[in-house]
Amino acid sequence: MNDASDAQGGPAYPWRHPTVVCGVPWKNPVGTASGTFQLAACREYYDVSQMGAISTKGVSPVPWEGNPGPRTAESPAGMVNAVGLQNPGVDHYLVDELPKLKSLGATVVTNVAGHSDDDYAQVVAKLDDCASDMLEINVSCPNVSHGGMSVGTDPVALGRLVRRLRGLTSKPMIVKLSPNVTDIVGIARAAVDAGADGLSLINTLVGMRIDIHTGKPILANRTGGVSGPCIFPIALGFVWRVRQALPDIPIIGIGGIDSAEKALEFLYAGANAVEVGAAALYDPTAPLRVARELDALLDSRPQLARKLSEGRTW
Ligand SMILES: Cc1cc2nc3c(=O)[nH]c(=O)nc-3n(C[C@H](O)[C@H](O)[C@H](O)COP(=O)(O)O)c2cc1C
Repeated sequence: MNDASDAQGGPAYPWRHPTVVCGVPWKNPVGTASGTFQLAACREYYDVSQMGAISTKGVSPVPWEGNPGPRTAESPAGMVNAVGLQNPGVDHYLVDELPKLKSLGATVVTNVAGHSDDDYAQVVAKLDDCASDMLEINVSCPNVSHGGMSVGTDPVALGRLVRRLRGLTSKPMIVKLSPNVTDIVGIARAAVDAGADGLSLINTLVGMRIDIHTGKPILANRTGGVSGPCIFPIALGFVWRVRQALPDIPIIGIGGIDSAEKALEFLYAGANAVEVGAAALYDPTAPLRVARELDALLDSRPQLARKLSEGRTW
């Protein structure tokens, strides 16, 4: 811990530059990215109520064991992971993690995972009446309803899924987009036209590492998702393209953020908020550090700060 006030029970930080995402107030524009935040570990390093929001690990209808190991491999300026969405399931989430996060004062974005449209529908229906502030639908999961392809790569399938989920919840619903597509704008439009309140992007890019001593893939799953600083310019380009095409939709920018300067680039590209992912795995204090440093950078950018605080998009 690098600052006693970061820990539970310390004085709240006087945030000067809040944001609003899909009508939900965030204390600052920086959240944690799904799958890289674990409450028991992270609360040792910072007060979770001080983050803009906490995006949880993907929640599925029943417990998922995830993939066999090895599940992660290092890579220059990043990593490759195939954790496989391990989680204890929505029922456990509702009685354990969510009440804990809310009792600590966190703004919660519940990340939803599914291997079929029915999976997503079951989870979203159960979450409709819970204390989560918003939902984030991870459409990058391999999906049996679509032959193992993620529903996030097909605008027609995505539109059908989002329309169904829209009918099941009145909570602010963000769709988290996969970068593993050729036409991100077409996919983004399909999600918005079907009723998504906002978009978050990007999830990981497909990649792999090979062990040159065996000639075999390092990950048991063979391929995995690439994240970390190496994907930053790619993620930024995705956010910028979607913002150019869709000026009115709230956007959360994700990918390679490990500094306030990179977060600021996302905000200039059109994001209303950002999430810090892989950086938190090698520096657990990164999310709160980025939030504080961004607060200082926004002091000298009053126009951008005002746009964020009013929840305006572009
Ligand atoms: C170990 C690990 C687990 C992840 N699990 C999830 C998940 O459950 N749901 C999801 O939507 N994204 C998941 N992601 C993707 C991240 O939330 C984020 O979109 C991606 O890593 C890019 O951001 P980064 O470069 O800051 O890590 C995971 C990423 C990592 C590294």
